[in-house]
Amino acid sequence: MSKTLTQQRWIAERYAFNAGFVAKLGEPLISLLKPKAGERILDLGCGDGALTQKLLKFDVEVLGVDSSNDQIAAAKSKGLNAIVCDGHCLDFDNEFDAVMSNAALHWMSKDPDAVIRGIFNALKPGGRMVAEMGGKGNIDRILGALKTTLYEFGVDWREFYSWYFPDQEDYSERLAKAGFLIGKIELFPRPTELPGDIAKWLETFAEPFLSSVAETRRPDLLDAIKQVLRPFLFKNDRWIIDYMRLRVIAKKPY
Ligand code: BEZ
Repeated sequence: MSKTLTQQRWIAERYAFNAGFVAKLGEPLISLLKPKAGERILDLGCGDGALTQKLLKFDVEVLGVDSSNDQIAAAKSKGLNAIVCDGHCLDFDNEFDAVMSNAALHWMSKDPDAVIRGIFNALKPGGRMVAEMGGKGNIDRILGALKTTLYEFGVDWREFYSWYFPDQEDYSERLAKAGFLIGKIELFPRPTELPGDIAKWLETFAEPFLSSVAETRRPDLLDAIKQVLRPFLFKNDRWIIDYMRLRVIAKKPY
């Protein structure tokens, strides 16, 4: 039996193979960010740098930060300037024109206010935050399936739950408390077609839930989860999962 994981592991090779769609679907953020030549931009939760890399053509200076050593190594191998840093511990002082974050803030769930404060402090006066994350209702079907299926396997799913999917009101209040002026905040469904089987998504993103059962029982667990989800998320031979995005544009006042 392998050890139970309480934290998600980020394995860059597995991520690149199963989660390439994350950077692709994050591209609209760059249009919202409108990078200008010479700007300094922080990409918070840059992962393997696949989206970060797209900023370079705007002649900006980019720093990627991520809590995963493996993902930062992958970002650096793309020639990016990137450092390992947990989003709760950002220690920058009025030095970036913009902070971008795609599909990462929902992983920084221990203290969202500390993360927002770190972003605010990192920005120069007049700097902007452009971010997209999982919002209220995100992956509700998947969470429901994990909950009921794990219960049948004798596991309490709550021990392994660590995401933060806020609604507009919750996140707006936190942004305002930190001193941000909110330009736009919206919550919208973005059904997302997976490149392959949902088991790969679960292995890549929900590993602690799966590792809560013995390795020998994992194929049965995956089958059971898929059986619950199939009527809702499997259409025309494709898995389309129930993402809800919270998109934010906010500004640090002068
Ligand atoms: C998301 O991008 O919304 C997400 C990805 C993996 C796990 C949970 C949420």
